[in-house]
Amino acid sequence: MIPSRFTLVCVALFPITLAGCGSNDESSDDPSPTATLSVPTRYPARTDLMVVKPLSTAPTRWYTAGFPPLRSLRLFPNTPDQDIALELKNQPGKPILDPTAYEPEVWMPSQADQVTRLLDAHFGTPASPTVRIPAWDDVVTTAIVRLDPEKGLGANLKAARTALGKWPWDDWRADWNTANSVNAELKLDDATLARGSLVYRRWCMQCHGPSGAGDPAHAIEGGPMPRDYRLGVFKFITAFPPSDLKKKGLGASGKPRRDDLKRTVRNGLDGSIMPAFSSLTEQELEDVVSYVIHLSIRGETEFATLAKGVSPGDEDPIFVGGELDWLFMQNELFVLINWGIAAKNPIPIAPENTPTEADRRKSAVRGYKLYHSTAFGCSSCHGDYGRQRQLKWDKWATIAQPRNLTLGVYRGGRKGEDLYARLYGGIEASGMNPFHPQLAGSTPGQPDKLWDLVHFLQALPDPNQRRRMQELDREVKFE
Ligand code: HEC
Ligand code: HEC
Repeated sequence: MIPSRFTLVCVALFPITLAGCGSNDESSDDPSPTATLSVPTRYPARTDLMVVKPLSTAPTRWYTAGFPPLRSLRLFPNTPDQDIALELKNQPGKPILDPTAYEPEVWMPSQADQVTRLLDAHFGTPASPTVRIPAWDDVVTTAIVRLDPEKGLGANLKAARTALGKWPWDDWRADWNTANSVNAELKLDDATLARGSLVYRRWCMQCHGPSGAGDPAHAIEGGPMPRDYRLGVFKFITAFPPSDLKKKGLGASGKPRRDDLKRTVRNGLDGSIMPAFSSLTEQELEDVVSYVIHLSIRGETEFATLAKGVSPGDEDPIFVGGELDWLFMQNELFVLINWGIAAKNPIPIAPENTPTEADRRKSAVRGYKLYHSTAFGCSSCHGDYGRQRQLKWDKWATIAQPRNLTLGVYRGGRKGEDLYARLYGGIEASGMNPFHPQLAGSTPGQPDKLWDLVHFLQALPDPNQRRRMQELDREVKFE
């Protein structure tokens, strides 16, 4: 669907026309602002292409508005961006999967339907969203009981008994317990989600879509797509899970903490089309954040299940019946556990340790040198302080442009701590590596190297501060 002028107008005039966008029923008697918003009866099943591995090469140009690269690949050759579609088509190692490319004995429409039924049962509908973790008994039977129709009842019972004996009960019980407590900590109860769903439909759905897929109509040239939550990966986060943890499913990296989502919604993402929702009440904010988490958990469970089902590895069974139920259940437990890990591992922010203006200026000069050093190599991506165009594929096969750092416009917040967190953990989804390893050997009580870089970043957009840095050290050059 080409973005109609109507949808674009809705965005441009946002939020004045919002109640009218996506809604035909303006004659309702209910005076509440949400009354005219249509509710999709079910979440749409995922049929779009999925990126399962990092892409190689780099995009050669921005896409045409309304045509994010995966959409062009899907529509090929009927896209204005045939060259971009071909670049994705020719990626080595099959990083892009099509959940509707059915293949006998591997993945068929009946299996896709089974996933849809599971999603409905575990996550509900837009009007009644839920996050339902199966009862322990169901987990046990789903994990273990595989009836083989070719064998008799006796042989089947014997096989089930053997499987029961070998099953790692304690490990799974611990995972199930963790998933349940995370479910409670993340405030995913049905009442909160139902309220959050209303806020979402009023303020977020026109960009982020009913299932959180991100609406391609809002793929604008030069800017990021509204986030597709279904990968379970976010950019502006302050969680940093320890790397030595045993990875469950797709892992915990890239997951936000609740406060990160609240900051994003409250403050917006400067320099993107995502607005600041500063007038939401605290309650609405909490509710919509829970709902975004719900969409993300649902979407990632679906993603992980489809990715494995469509492309099973050598060791995997064909995922039908009980095998598919169990794959789905494991993914749901793992996704919840990973959200829990992120919530408990905030990035440690060192004290700033620059009491005076003169200390800060010296720190900024050190930051300038670190910026250009090979150990940090910021300019390898942010060439000419980010004014050079250097496009990269991100995890969604949309395009990221390393930030122009001379503007002082940051999406993840402009406070020192915000910038510190961004450097510490990097932005994995866009390919900016984390810089915490470079902190090794820092002296406690001294501003560390990341703070030096932060002070440099804060000075960079201001001509007066740049001049003062040059007065302090003649090696500092900005041309
Ligand atoms: C006008 C379009 C638009 C609207 C409306 C909108 N967003 Fe966004 N949103 C975006 C864009 C674009 C991005 C991606 C920014 C980026 O990648 O840097 C985004 C990203 C996000 C992210 C991801 C942040 C991260 O760290 O990766 C969250 C969470 C989010 N939006 C939540 C919401 C919520 C909740 C609402 C409603 C209250 C909302 N958005 C309304 C456009 C929108
Ligand atoms: C491997 C490439 C790469 C390197 C190296 C890199 N960056 Fe980035 N950086 C990016 C990309 C890509 C983005 C844009 C991410 C996005 O918005 O999707 C970015 C964004 C940023 C942002 C914006 C954060 C925000 O909240 O909007 C800052 C600040 C930043 N980089 C600073 C640095 C500094 C300082 C260094 C060196 C210590 C550095 N970067 C090294 C690729 C890189």
